Amino acid sequence: MSTIVPIFLAAPRLDQGGSVGLGHDHMSMPPLTVHTCPVMSEETSAARKYTTRATFSDRPARPAGICAVIRRGRDVEQRHLDIPSRVKDTVTVPVAVKLSPYFSSTAEIASRLDEAGADGLVLFNRFLQPDIDPETLTEVPTVTLSTADESRLPRTWIALLRGRVRASLAATTGVESATDLIKYLLAGADVVMSASALLRHDPEHAGVLLDGLCEWMGRKGFTSVDDVRGMLTVPSGADETARQRADYVSALRQANTTTYGPS
Ligand SMILES: Cc1cc2nc3c(=O)[nH]c(=O)nc-3n(C[C@H](O)[C@H](O)[C@H](O)COP(=O)(O)O)c2cc1C
Repeated sequence: MSTIVPIFLAAPRLDQGGSVGLGHDHMSMPPLTVHTCPVMSEETSAARKYTTRATFSDRPARPAGICAVIRRGRDVEQRHLDIPSRVKDTVTVPVAVKLSPYFSSTAEIASRLDEAGADGLVLFNRFLQPDIDPETLTEVPTVTLSTADESRLPRTWIALLRGRVRASLAATTGVESATDLIKYLLAGADVVMSASALLRHDPEHAGVLLDGLCEWMGRKGFTSVDDVRGMLTVPSGADETARQRADYVSALRQANTTTYGPS
């Protein structure tokens, strides 16, 4: 089995300007989170150099600055293309890129990464967004675990991208139960990942997910995961605008027959 080197292009502080100006020093997280890959030191030092241009006269230098907020979208995209290319030049194992859900055009960046040689796309990174406590007037760094509902966005994109990119598609976010795992497979995920559920329960929960998948496959008469994978992918060549419109109309029809909240 081949090994995939994950490159985490998660830059919650650098790209989003997260906590800059809130007046607290919760900046222990490196400005650019590039985990477990050889390019880490290079990228973090580049980020450090970049952010030193920000001046906060009354505070020590911070590892993110307003300049990060006004970074051009095209530059952010280019960096996402450059880093995997450099990593690909360095390693011989397949390289997967974990994407942010916040690109202007998810399909375009996925397609460009695919063309640049990314072996896998991981949809999506889930940023740890800090909260604010109005009582203590402080920023509160929090780790909130995901819910199954959050799987809809990555699942929709996986269904759209399957067959349109060469790279393998890995799903991450909101896999709480076997049903969530199955839905991702039906959408077209090659790999399904889970983090929050394993923390919420325990690592043995992975066995629960697999048992649930096997039980469902047996009940439905599937003998191989390959038979399940991609069954509900948006077919190549489908008119996506028409499909989205149709989905919207059917969603509204469904809503008309649904009661929301207490009557
Ligand atoms: C405690 C914790 C630590 C995480 N650390 C990382 C990390 O270092 N790099 C990364 O790309 N994602 C990290 N993630 C994100 C997970 O890999 C995953 O993409 C995200 O939690 C969504 O999946 P889930 O809904 O199964 O939790 C972390 C998540 C949690 C809960």
